[in-house]
Amino acid sequence: MEDATARQLESCRICASRDLALVLDLGSTPLANAFVAPERAAEPELRFPLEVLQCGRCRLVQLSVVVRPDVLFRTYLYSSSASAPMVEHFDRLAAELAQRFALPGACVVEVGSNDGVLLARLAARGVRAVGVEPAANLAAIANARGLETWNEFFSADSARRVLAAKGPAAVVVANNVLAHIDDLGAMLRALDVLLARDGVFAAEVPYLGDLLEHVEYDTIYHEHLSYFALAPLRTLLASGGLEVFDVERLPVHGGSVRVFAGRAGRHAGTERLARALEGESAAGLTDRGRFVDFATRVQASREALRRLLSELRGAGRRLAGYGATAKSTTLLSFCGIGAETLAFIADTTPLKQGLLTPGTHIPILPDDALLAERPDYTLLLAWNYADAIMRGHASYLAAGGRFVHPMPLARIL
Ligand code: TYD
Repeated sequence: MEDATARQLESCRICASRDLALVLDLGSTPLANAFVAPERAAEPELRFPLEVLQCGRCRLVQLSVVVRPDVLFRTYLYSSSASAPMVEHFDRLAAELAQRFALPGACVVEVGSNDGVLLARLAARGVRAVGVEPAANLAAIANARGLETWNEFFSADSARRVLAAKGPAAVVVANNVLAHIDDLGAMLRALDVLLARDGVFAAEVPYLGDLLEHVEYDTIYHEHLSYFALAPLRTLLASGGLEVFDVERLPVHGGSVRVFAGRAGRHAGTERLARALEGESAAGLTDRGRFVDFATRVQASREALRRLLSELRGAGRRLAGYGATAKSTTLLSFCGIGAETLAFIADTTPLKQGLLTPGTHIPILPDDALLAERPDYTLLLAWNYADAIMRGHASYLAAGGRFVHPMPLARIL
C-alpha cells in the first residue's frame, strides 16, 4: 500500500523483527479525528485497514498501517481542555511533577502539549514549562494563552534548539504521545539531546492490560500505532539508554500507565514498579493466546451493541450519541452504526461542533443538544468519562433520557 499518505509496517518498530502476526482485524476505517465539514461531505475520505499485529520477539502490539504523521497531526481537533476530567488529571500531574522533580528554575518540556492544558497548570505552580506541539491550530491556542509552545514535531533537531534556548530539561513529559510515534528511535535520540543528566522522562500511555481486560477495541485507530504493555515499553526505553524507575496506574482513557524513566543508573527503582512488572508477567499479558480470547470478546461486544440499538430503534425510540471521540470512529465503523441510527452526537469541543463524523457523517452538535433534543437513548461514545457525563447531565436523566454504555457488552445505565 506504499503511497503518499501511508506505508505498510514491515518490521517491529522496537526490535526490527519481521515476525509480526495478525492478531485482530477491525476492517477498514476512516481516520479517527478526520471530522468532515458539511460542505465537503461529498468528497472521498481516506480509509485504511485497521489490523493489529504482534511482534513475536519483543511482543509489542502495533498496527499494520502507518499513516504519515503530517496527515494526522498538523491540524488536530482533539483538544484536552474540552474534557473536564482531563483538566483535573493534568492538574494532579503538574502537582506531582512540581513536588517530585521540577526544582525551582528547572525547565519542563512537554512533547505533544496540545492546547497547553498541562503547561498552564505547571505555570500556575511556578514551573518554567515549554511545549512542543505539531498541530498548528493547537499551538496557536496555547501561545495565545501565553503558554510558550513551539509548533513542530519533536526531533533531535528541535531538541537541540530547545536545549540552546532553555538549557537541559529537568523533566520531559509525553502524555499520549509514544503510541502515536512511528520512529521511536528518533524520539529517543531527541530525548537524549534534551534531558538533563538526572532528568526524568514522564510518559503516559494507554495500558494494553486495560484494553484487553475491558475489551476497549475502539481505542484502536490509526493514530495509535503501538499498544504498550510495560515489558516492551521498558525494552524500548532501554534501547535509548533510559531506565524505567517508577510506574503509576491511571484511570484515564480507559486505563493508562505513567512511567518515569531516567538515564541508566541515575534513579533507584521503586517497589511498585517491581510489583507491576511481576503482575504483568504472571498475567501473561503479552502471550499471543490472549488475543484469541480478545478477538472473540470483540465480536460479542459488537453483536450485543448492534442488537440493543436495533431493538430500541424497532421500538420507535429516538437515539443519539455523546462524545465525538476518536474511538467512536472505530466503534461506529466496525459496528456499522451510522446516521440512520444516531440522529446526532453531542460534544463539548467547539472545534468539532458543526462538523460530521468521519465516514458515518453524523452531525456533531453542542453539548446542550442533549437536553434540547432529548433523545430517548444516548450512546456513550466517551464511555471512559461515563460518571462525569452522567453527573453533568442530571437534567437529561431527570427528563427521562437514558444512556447506553457500549463496553464491554452494551447495557442501558
Ligand atoms: P476522549 O475519550 O478523550 O476521546 P478520544 O477517543 O478522542 O481520545 O473524549 C474526548 C471527547 O469527548 C472530546 O471530543 C470531548 C468529549 N467530551 C464531551 O463532549 N463531554 C464531556 O463531558 C467529556 C468529558 C468529553
